[in-house]
This record gives sequence, structure tokens and C-alpha cells, in this order.
Amino acid sequence: MVFKLSVGLLALATAVSAANYKRVACPDGIHTASNEACCVFLSLADELQTNKFDSQCGEDAHEALRLTFHDAIGFSFSGGPSMGGGADGSIMLFNDTELQDPANNGVDDAIDNLKPLLQQFNVTAGDLIQFAGAVAVSNCPGAPRLQFLAGRPNATIPAAKGLVPLPEENVDDIFARMEDAGFSPTELVSLLASHSVARSDTLIDNREAVPFDTTPFTFDTQVFLEVLLKGNETLPPAPGEAAAQVPNPLATEGEMRLQSDFAIAHAPQSACFWQSMVNNQQAVMQGFHDAMAKLAIVGHDASNLIDCSEAVPVAVPPVGKPASFPAGTGPDLLQLSCNSPFPTLSTDQGPPTTIPECPDGDTNLNDCPS
Ligand code: HEM
Ligand SMILES: *[C@@H]1O[C@H](CO)[C@@H](O)[C@H](O)[C@H]1NC(C)=O
Ligand SMILES: *[C@@H]1O[C@H](CO)[C@@H](O)[C@H](O)[C@H]1NC(C)=O
Ligand SMILES: *[C@@H]1O[C@H](CO)[C@@H](O)[C@H](O)[C@H]1NC(C)=O
Ligand SMILES: *[C@@H]1O[C@H](CO)[C@@H](O)[C@H](O)[C@H]1NC(C)=O
Repeated sequence: MVFKLSVGLLALATAVSAANYKRVACPDGIHTASNEACCVFLSLADELQTNKFDSQCGEDAHEALRLTFHDAIGFSFSGGPSMGGGADGSIMLFNDTELQDPANNGVDDAIDNLKPLLQQFNVTAGDLIQFAGAVAVSNCPGAPRLQFLAGRPNATIPAAKGLVPLPEENVDDIFARMEDAGFSPTELVSLLASHSVARSDTLIDNREAVPFDTTPFTFDTQVFLEVLLKGNETLPPAPGEAAAQVPNPLATEGEMRLQSDFAIAHAPQSACFWQSMVNNQQAVMQGFHDAMAKLAIVGHDASNLIDCSEAVPVAVPPVGKPASFPAGTGPDLLQLSCNSPFPTLSTDQGPPTTIPECPDGDTNLNDCPS
């Protein structure tokens, strides 16, 4: 009796530890995976890096990251399932409908870029979008390696219009919209680290790739600092788009501050959290990792999904440069709505900062504005 029991336990222990290290050979003959369901994502990562992103934190990577939000936020607790299924790929499968929402202006590029992979890899649109975003941001120095869970079913209906926040919206309406999808104001701040690798293609007529901070190819904390700098009132936003923007602090037209980012940086619910991100790379990485893990499964139950995070490339490490005031700005321009002490930062010397159009040393024009 005692003997039988211990044999049984031994067998059980062996099975458990085998499950922990046993990897399956993937059909592509190249990869091995902890779960066969992850094989396709290991191949997909290679394809994305080689033929879509050029392993760079360039334009195509930025757009793929933005798409994760515009798909996932199509969800409403108050409105119920008929409003949308969250991170379900509906923005790609029902693009003719969802792209009529002006908040989705510009996401057509990412959809056109990624959609052929649906058939090529036979994955669902929801999985493709969240996985592509995770691979994309891994190319941005300083980004965390994001979680990726696989198994979202294909969307069966489009998301309702009006669920994606607009940059001109009132901050309380933005918080209410995010709350209705399960996100607190501080979680929104964490997600907005994405605007550290972001440029607007649509908000200024005839101008593309207007960056949100001076370092649009590194996932750093500059955006949290630069949004707090008083804008130069002699450089108003472009005509017709004034409501979406507030003046930028550089003594050039070089960057853009979204009205929404500005308002979130100063709202009582989020101002101190926003300010605490300045020069706090580890907190930005951790917060973004956790908030993106939540965003990526809006509308799904994690227990129905398979952890394929191993297919997400290890992210490029931070560049290691502390946050600094761009040349031509300085601490005198700080506009703060939180009483906590502000970190002491250096000011870049030299002529007013000019922001490069392409990632460092990059020669592939796909990563630069078209
Ligand atoms: C209050 C919420 C948000 C608002 C109002 C907002 C608004 C915007 C706007 C207006 C643009 C410029 C689009 C263009 O003109 O091309 C943009 C770009 C971007 N957004 Fe957001 N956003 C929000 C939240 C997020 C979140 C949560 C993510 C996280 C994934 C995100 C990721 C991005 C990225 C990566 C870009 C850059 C796209 C590119 O460079 O092509 N945004 N956002
Ligand atoms: C939706 O995607 C298809 C290709 O998959 C494209 O032909 C069509 O123009 C897209 N619609 C919009 C509104 O972008
Ligand atoms: C694609 O995947 C689905 C679900 O796993 C499967 O039913 C279908 O047969 C696959 N199609 C192809 C062409 O492999
Ligand atoms: C999801 O939809 C795409 C596009 O129609 C299709 O290629 C793919 O096989 C579908 N996947 C499943 C599992 O149904
Ligand atoms: C504001 O921008 C104008 C035009 O570029 C520039 O001449 C001026 O010096 C700037 N003012 C400040 C305070 O930077």
C-alpha cells in the first residue's frame, strides 16, 4: 500500500517535471515550443521582423502598436456584447465599418500591412494584432518584453462607433470611456508610454510623422517630461486641428502635444502618477507591461488562452540616457499639477533639438515617413 502510493507519487512528479521542460518540435523544422499552439507565432515573429518591421522601432512598428489599442478598446461593459468583443480583430475583419470612425484615422496602414498574414499563417485577427504589437514594440529600446496569450476567436461583429477616445475629447469623458472598458486613469497613463514611440500622420494637413517627443524611436520617459513643458504660444496648432493639440514647447514646429495627453498629465486623478514616470524607466516599463497584458485580452478570459510569450522577441534594452530637457527648453518651462518633488534633470546643450525622421543608422525607407 505504502509502496504503491509512493510509486504513484513518483510517476506523478515525473510527469509534472517533464511537462515543465519538454518542448515540441515545430512543423517549420526550425523552432521548438512549449506548446504546439505557439509554433505558428514563432514563425510569425520571424516574418514580422524580416519583412514588416525590419527589426526596427520605425513607422510600421509604431502603427502596429497603435492598432492593438484601437482593436481592444472596442468593448463596453455598460453597452454589452453587441458593442464589440474587445481584442478580437474586428478592426481588421470589419475594417470597412470601423474605419468610418474618425478616431481610427491612420490605422489603415497597419491593417494593410498585416492583413495578408491572416491567410499566410492561418491565425485569428485578434491574435495577429496583439502579437504584431508585442513584436513591434520589442524593437524599441527600453520597452518591456510583453506577454502574449494566444487563442482569441475571430470577431463576428464590428465594434460600435465612438468607443475609441479622440485627442480633442474632454478628459473626464476619456476617463469614463476607459473605465467602461476596465481601465483606471493610472492604467491609462501606463498605456500612454506608447506615445513615447509615436508620431501623428493625420492631425496636421500636409504633414506626416510629427513626433510626440524628441525621441520617437526609443521607449523612454521623455514623453512624460515633454508633455509637462509649457508650449510656445507663437506656434499654434495647425488651423482646423486646434482642439486636438496644445502648443508644443520646442522653439520649432518639431513636435506635437495632444490635448488628451496634456489634460491627462494635469488631471487630479492622474497628474501625480504621470509626473512620477519622468526619468523612471523601470516604473514605465513595469506599468506598460502590466497594462498591455490587460489591454491585449479585453473581452477574453485568460484561462481560455495559451501562454505563447516565448514567441515575443526579447526587447532591446534601454539606451540608458536619463531624461533631459531638450535643448532650448529647461526647468523654467515646467507646468506641474502635482506637489511631489520634481527630479533634477540636465538640459541638452546646443541648438534647438531637431528630431530625426528615421531610427538611428536605418537605411530602409519603410521605417521612415513615406
Ligand atoms: C486617450 C487615449 C488616446 C488618444 C486620444 C490617442 C490619440 C492618438 C493620436 C491622435 C495619434 C496620432 C494618429 C495620427 O495622426 O497618425 C496617436 C498615435 C499613437 N498612439 Fe495613441 N492615443 C491614445 C491612447 C493610446 C494607447 C493606449 C496606445 C497603446 C497602444 C496608443 C498608441 C499609439 C501609437 C503607438 C501611436 C503612433 C502611431 C504612429 O506613429 O504611426 N495610443 N494616438
Ligand atoms: C479594408 O481592407 C481591404 C483589404 O483587406 C481593403 O481592400 C479595403 O479598402 C479596406 N477598407 C478600408 C475602409 O480601409
Ligand atoms: C485554419 O485554422 C482553423 C482553426 O484552427 C482550421 O479549422 C482550418 O482548417 C485552418 N485552415 C487552413 C487552411 O489550414
Ligand atoms: C479568422 O479569419 C481569417 C480571415 O477571414 C481567416 O483567414 C482565419 O482562418 C480565421 N481563423 C479562424 C480560426 O477561424
Ligand atoms: C517661440 O517660437 C518662435 C518661432 O519659432 C521663436 O522665435 C521664439 O523664440 C520662441 N519662443 C520661446 C520662448 O522659445
